[in-house]
Amino acid sequence: MGYRELYESWKSDPEGFWMEAAQAVEWSRPPSRALDDSRAPLYGWYADGECNVCHNALDRHVAAGHGDRKAIIYDSPITGAKSTLTYAETLDRVSRLAGALAAQGVGKGDRVVIYMPMIPEALVAMLACARLGATHSVVFGGFAAPELAVRIDDAQPKALIASSCGIEPGRVIAYKPMVDQAIEMCRHKPEFCVIFQREQVEASLVEGRDHEWHAFQEGAEPAPCTPVGGMDPLYILYTSGTTGQPKGVVRPSGGYMVALAWTMRAIYDVEPGDVFWTASDVGWVVGHSYICYAPLLHGATTIVFEGKPVGTPDAGTFWRVIAEYGVKSFFTAPTAFRAIKREDSDAEFLRKYDLSSLRLLFLAGERADPDTIEWAQRHLKVPVIDHWWQTETGWAIAANPAGIELMPIKLGSPTVAMPGYDVQILGEDGKPLPPNTLGAVAIKLPLPPGTLPTLWNAEERFRKAYLTTFPGYYETGDAGIIDDDGYIAIMARTDDVINVAGHRLSTGAMEEVLASHPDVAECAVIGIADPLKGQLPMGFLCLNRGCERDHDEIVRECVKLVRERIGPVAAFKDACVVDRLPKTRSGKILRGVMVKIADGQDWKAPGTIDDPAILDEISQSIAGARGGRKA
Ligand code: COA
Ligand code: AMP
Repeated sequence: MGYRELYESWKSDPEGFWMEAAQAVEWSRPPSRALDDSRAPLYGWYADGECNVCHNALDRHVAAGHGDRKAIIYDSPITGAKSTLTYAETLDRVSRLAGALAAQGVGKGDRVVIYMPMIPEALVAMLACARLGATHSVVFGGFAAPELAVRIDDAQPKALIASSCGIEPGRVIAYKPMVDQAIEMCRHKPEFCVIFQREQVEASLVEGRDHEWHAFQEGAEPAPCTPVGGMDPLYILYTSGTTGQPKGVVRPSGGYMVALAWTMRAIYDVEPGDVFWTASDVGWVVGHSYICYAPLLHGATTIVFEGKPVGTPDAGTFWRVIAEYGVKSFFTAPTAFRAIKREDSDAEFLRKYDLSSLRLLFLAGERADPDTIEWAQRHLKVPVIDHWWQTETGWAIAANPAGIELMPIKLGSPTVAMPGYDVQILGEDGKPLPPNTLGAVAIKLPLPPGTLPTLWNAEERFRKAYLTTFPGYYETGDAGIIDDDGYIAIMARTDDVINVAGHRLSTGAMEEVLASHPDVAECAVIGIADPLKGQLPMGFLCLNRGCERDHDEIVRECVKLVRERIGPVAAFKDACVVDRLPKTRSGKILRGVMVKIADGQDWKAPGTIDDPAILDEISQSIAGARGGRKA
């Protein structure tokens, strides 16, 4: 069956399609039906089924005689460490940690926050929670203590699992002081913490609250899997919205398992036992789905890579990993390839390695620019597949289903809608637009299994953010077009979310931080084009009347403030002081025009602008800030 037949088979019988897909995993109580539409427009999947995700990721494969198969390969060019865990060893570690957590009272429905770098213990911690039916919430290591605190207060975890440190090129980041600071700031206090001590930093432990990872598990009885309902949340993953309060995307257990298992063959063309590598971070959705859960659910081998595409130690590090472990399908963000291309434009490093195992390269997380795709195609000589998805969906909305039929690749397009997704382009009036017309990308409800059913403790926000603008549809927040062949192209966000090195960030959150600076009266943050990271944030600061302090000093303080409050991942390094911000007569800041000016695109003053002269001032301020930096 080719792609179009498959898509039609889903469309004509979604219930049959997803009931069949559900057979790829084991259920302690099989679901009697796939879709639950009793609360439409809120939907559920496999609601009366009972399952355990950890059982399907580990126990099932060991029971089938694959205990000796490699589950997790750890490769850390940043520390020089390498190790491997088989499925049996992973199961042993996970059930022991789960046993120790259970002994401290963690059980079904409890939340556990995980703050760990790219080490196998991060996956062990996630799977241990899944084993107990507890809901984990992983926080990316590049977020600072206040961001960790916001997530702790929202998720209200019983326990927190962290590592003593993360390691970035040239610096070791002590995590524990940030954990302590975050807990100090929180209204909700976790009952206890489990700390994995890395040799680079020994964290000090708080008596009575903190446990050292190994001592914590000593003598613990391995825990069995706790069955959970199909809609019980496996995890909460916070992502950026338009405000400083992140959105807690809820991931339901049953549908996620089914959808991920389906994608491994259909999209990634991976068989059990194959080596599948995603170079991302467990703190992002790509890491949840394709470093941790999907490869293990499918019985494949996953790689936990602690390093960067360049500088650890060189631009050949990806090729070394692919060659060393025989990676078949490889997934990363376009920005990683741009970084390699910038350092090694002729791909000299490639010649040192045998990449014959590699069949496919997948890119996602941001728009894949044609130059990068062509460069990768030319040098790797494998199909380069761009696919589009979001934290909210957990798996690809649009992709090239290589395991079913490799469709012709059109540069700039993540190809076609996957079964389960009825993607449409809508006009401002909510009506579908004809092919080749730019509009809001929306998905006709219901969304497929595995996607978010709601936001954690925020159902009203869920409805407002995603379901209200276009009744009957899920609003993706992206703008794009669909061509005559059904190929989708994602062009930009329709909201104030920006994408920096494949990381989704909220300009609203940065504005909240800048506005808290005592000299800042008003501000705006926009995303400007960057050849490496796709976008970079830039701040515009209007100072309080009468403030006569040095502007450069205020800018430096603002940059520091964003780093301390949000984290280094915000990559906020650029701001300028302006007299006024361009606004519409109703007071809305004209961010779109500011972006065009900053990116050197053609722009014209909108008719709604309060005072067009401000745009020239903005243009001069940007030029001045850039000139200053060059100097
Ligand atoms: N813990 C602490 N700090 C972190 C961190 C972590 N886990 N991850 C990143 N940071 C820091 C970096 O050290 C950097 O700090 P600096 O301002 O002191 O240099 C800052 O956050 C920005 O990081 P990053 O965006 O990674 O930029 P970079 O300049 O270090 O590297 C790339 C640029 C392109 C090599 C890098 O962004 C990359 O590999 N991207 C891949 C993207 C990806 O995996 N995206 C996930 C979605 S698929
Ligand atoms: P995140 O939730 O962090 O995965 O970010 C999701 C957003 O990243 C999407 O809404 C898009 O704006 C963008 N994005 C992800 N993948 C792609 C892609 N392949 N092409 C264009 N944009 C993408």
